[in-house]
Amino acid sequence: MNFQLTEEQLAVRDAAREFAQTELLPGVIERDTHQRFPVEQIRKMGELGFLGMMVDPAYNGGGMDTISYVLAMEEISKVDASASVCMSVNNSLVCWGLEKFGSPGQKEKYLKPLATHGIGAFCLSEPEAGSDATSQRTTAIDMGDHYLLNGTKNWITNGNTASVYIVIAQTDASKKHKGINALIVEKGMQGFTVGKKEDKMGIRGSDTHSLMFSDVKVPKQNRIGEDGFGFQFAMTTLNGGRIGIASQALGIAAGAYELALKYSKERKAFGKALSEHQAIQFKLADMATQIDAARLLVHQAAWLKDQGEDFVRAAAMAKLFASQVAQDVTTEAVQIHGGYGYVKEYHVERLMRDAKITQIYEGTTEIQKMVISRSILK
Ligand code: CAA
Repeated sequence: MNFQLTEEQLAVRDAAREFAQTELLPGVIERDTHQRFPVEQIRKMGELGFLGMMVDPAYNGGGMDTISYVLAMEEISKVDASASVCMSVNNSLVCWGLEKFGSPGQKEKYLKPLATHGIGAFCLSEPEAGSDATSQRTTAIDMGDHYLLNGTKNWITNGNTASVYIVIAQTDASKKHKGINALIVEKGMQGFTVGKKEDKMGIRGSDTHSLMFSDVKVPKQNRIGEDGFGFQFAMTTLNGGRIGIASQALGIAAGAYELALKYSKERKAFGKALSEHQAIQFKLADMATQIDAARLLVHQAAWLKDQGEDFVRAAAMAKLFASQVAQDVTTEAVQIHGGYGYVKEYHVERLMRDAKITQIYEGTTEIQKMVISRSILK
């Protein structure tokens, strides 16, 4: 693994940093307060190529490597984790899955717009199937030329703003996970309705909804891969998604750390800057070390994926570790800010709330430990 970033990777990181500071930072607190999706900012992210970074240029993508992607994710997440979850789902779960497993027709029709301006959603979780993803209750009955889709999906990122939804559903329950399919559903298909918006603890600017499918006719050509491939599709896609969420967690931690470092140099207590007190210096040392360790794991997973190597364990380790670092570092950043850290006009308060979800979505901490231990013991 090469620790030296290329000129191109550095340019991507700098462009993402610039965008985050100039376009995302203003208004981020208001968007969080009012649960407002960053519509305009996401549109600009599409124009700049942040929504389809790794997609082949033949499909309008940026043709970049995963290292460039995680660098951009870290910078965007330092400032606005609500924007970065939209970016992560679109890049890792929707575009990557479609490019790797979609038919030429699906890539032409769906991937091309998604790589530039469209927004996609990945619909696996259900009211009674979160971590236990094989227990899908949503059904896709084979009707010959189409599937009849019925069921409910929960906690879907980009739930209302998406135009394209990849929906995981059970076609043949007797075959268990081998009877599951992944179907492409378009907004506006008859019988598909967007349900209530979730009032969340964190990433409040992101658009999280339940979805209802009632006798939705999904054409057969919208199935991704062979009949029964849906669960494998979801698992393989989530392996890549976990690198995206790990880089989001890393960014949240790094953003909180940078704010705490700055504050510790400005704020005085007992006649000297906070940063001159050993109690604070040791906190900063721990935070910086945790962040560097998380970054190494995230980059290792991204690098393995770029080499075409097995990255499943590395992605799970990166997400497991970086999401805990996000918890620990944001909590310490609030502590360093004292009373100011507990009020909403200081960004660390939001970052601490945003951090929690990285231990839950795209596989909880406990699921990552299952994936890692199974990989060690197999
Ligand atoms: N990569 C590739 N394949 C995998 C896999 C992985 N990480 N994990 C399991 N599989 C495959 C297995 O090889 C097996 O296939 P075969 O039968 O062909 O060999 C099949 O999947 C079933 O595997 P298991 O028998 O291990 O299934 P299980 O039920 O015991 O456990 C699990 C599977 C790993 C726990 C899985 O259910 C899981 O990952 N759950 C978490 C789901 C999740 O991450 N949800 C997130 C929701 S999406 C989201 O959050 C997006 C968002 O909006 C932000």
